[in-house]
Amino acid sequence: MPNLIRRRTVCGIGSATLAFVLLTAAPALSEGGPARGEQAFKKYAACHAMQSGEKKATGPNLFGVFGRKAASAPDYKFSEAMKKSGIVWDEATLDAYLTDPKKNMPGSKMAFPGLPKADERAGLIAYIKLKK
Ligand code: HEM
Repeated sequence: MPNLIRRRTVCGIGSATLAFVLLTAAPALSEGGPARGEQAFKKYAACHAMQSGEKKATGPNLFGVFGRKAASAPDYKFSEAMKKSGIVWDEATLDAYLTDPKKNMPGSKMAFPGLPKADERAGLIAYIKLKK
């Protein structure tokens, strides 16, 4: 196979195919994608379970939290602030809460400083949205 064509394949994959794979995979692998969100969430897994039925001592299970009313998970003792918040968890409310939980919801007992980086929050929210 002449050099020019050989250089255009990577492990036998045509450059067009490779470009297509990268383009389609990029969103999921990007900072704001669910795959990166899942990775980032591992740091906080001590506080929150994400599998249905799983329990953690500190925070409520977040499985199915997207689209749910705040503090409506049956088996957790939420703060009055969370119970009275009237929030329904979606992209906007999660983004605001995760930016600065204490400032966004004074009285919340989530001892977490928040996530200043918007795309990191986007990744986590994309991941949480999938967990239901
Ligand atoms: C990126 C990481 C985190 C995310 C996405 C997150 C998300 C949430 C959400 C959505 C709620 C409300 C749940 C509901 O209404 O059912 C919540 C509550 C809570 N989280 Fe987190 N959390 C994170 C990190 C943490 C960490 C690190 C801790 C422990 C230090 C923690 C402890 C709690 C606690 C104690 C509550 C209950 C708050 C209350 O009743 O006021 N969270 N979290």
